[in-house]
Amino acid sequence: SAAEKGGYDYFMLKEIAEQPKAIADTLLGRFTPEGRLHLDEMRLSDDDLREVDKIIIIACGTSFHVGLIAKYAIEHWTRIPCEVELASEFRYRDPIVDRSTMVIAISQSGETMDTLMALRHAREQKAKVLAICNTNGSTIPRESDAVLYTYAGPEIAVASTKAFLTQIVATYVIALYLAQVRGIKYGDEITAILADLEKTPAAVAKVLESVEPVRQLARELKDAKSVLFIGRHVGYPVALEGALKLKELAYMHAEGFAAGELKHGPIALIEEGLPVFVVVPPKGRDVLHDKMVSNIQEIRARGARTIVLVEEGDHSVDPYADHVIRLPKVPTLLQPLVATVPLQVFSCEMATAKGHDVDQPRNLAKSVTVE
Ligand code: G6P
Repeated sequence: SAAEKGGYDYFMLKEIAEQPKAIADTLLGRFTPEGRLHLDEMRLSDDDLREVDKIIIIACGTSFHVGLIAKYAIEHWTRIPCEVELASEFRYRDPIVDRSTMVIAISQSGETMDTLMALRHAREQKAKVLAICNTNGSTIPRESDAVLYTYAGPEIAVASTKAFLTQIVATYVIALYLAQVRGIKYGDEITAILADLEKTPAAVAKVLESVEPVRQLARELKDAKSVLFIGRHVGYPVALEGALKLKELAYMHAEGFAAGELKHGPIALIEEGLPVFVVVPPKGRDVLHDKMVSNIQEIRARGARTIVLVEEGDHSVDPYADHVIRLPKVPTLLQPLVATVPLQVFSCEMATAKGHDVDQPRNLAKSVTVE
């Protein structure tokens, strides 16, 4: 009913709007005054966490993209090697896992069969399993050694939005805690990132206030045959997620690429008028930024219609951008939390413009409990 949707036409729109609160709720009370991480259900001691010499993240769909993002933060902050694998691949191979491996299973529903089976596969080999989940008491957390719940609240729309952002936050909290128990000293970096995380709900709210032009753009691009998304570093999984959303909701051909790979194939796809979303890394001291500016020039020269997501105040890409989507200034690792939001809105509006059911896309289920 309309009341359940909080006055929005679709659950997805309501859930997109709830993201600032979902992030704030997920961060709330995570660290005790002594700086200890509070996991909801914890059967792993600090000694267990110190023993970890490898992390493997397993997940499906949008939750898998969270894993890809988390890898950058986990390896950067903890120096523990981190692999990310689709649950459906992990479970059917012979992965190298033992008691010093920590497997992180990310699942909104906690019921995805492939993720559950991958988790069991890991546990049989004595891995320590940590779940990141949005559904209290579901199967995946019940079968794990520890759980960090995301407090996104119920997610009804099939396409995941607020669960995605809160899962990113949850992986970062775990990474920061691992760094802490393992005695890694980064001076001010970790304190600063915690403070920056606290500011993300406001940053996401700011993005939400400025998405009307993105809706307009979706309506303009309604008849595009294909849409590409490119990014680098954590912007790469954001590109994958942007493309996935468009497939799920608008049934459009869409692909996400690592911008550095363009020259190895995807650039051949560029033709006059092809819409390409570009996630530009924050300027700062980041060398990635300049690489991305040359990528935009390259595709623009070949006729792409460039839609550039870039932090406010950065006008270096303006000459090559057909559309600019401004993002609040945040550190590189936190950029996915703001950059994904316009892409969610774009897909949602595209589906609406095409007359599709936004909350119940064809052929898809919210939770895939079959293999
Ligand atoms: C389904 C949903 C996706 C979701 C995926 C994983 O395919 O349609 O939105 O990302 O399952 O779900 P999970 O509940 O394990 O995060």
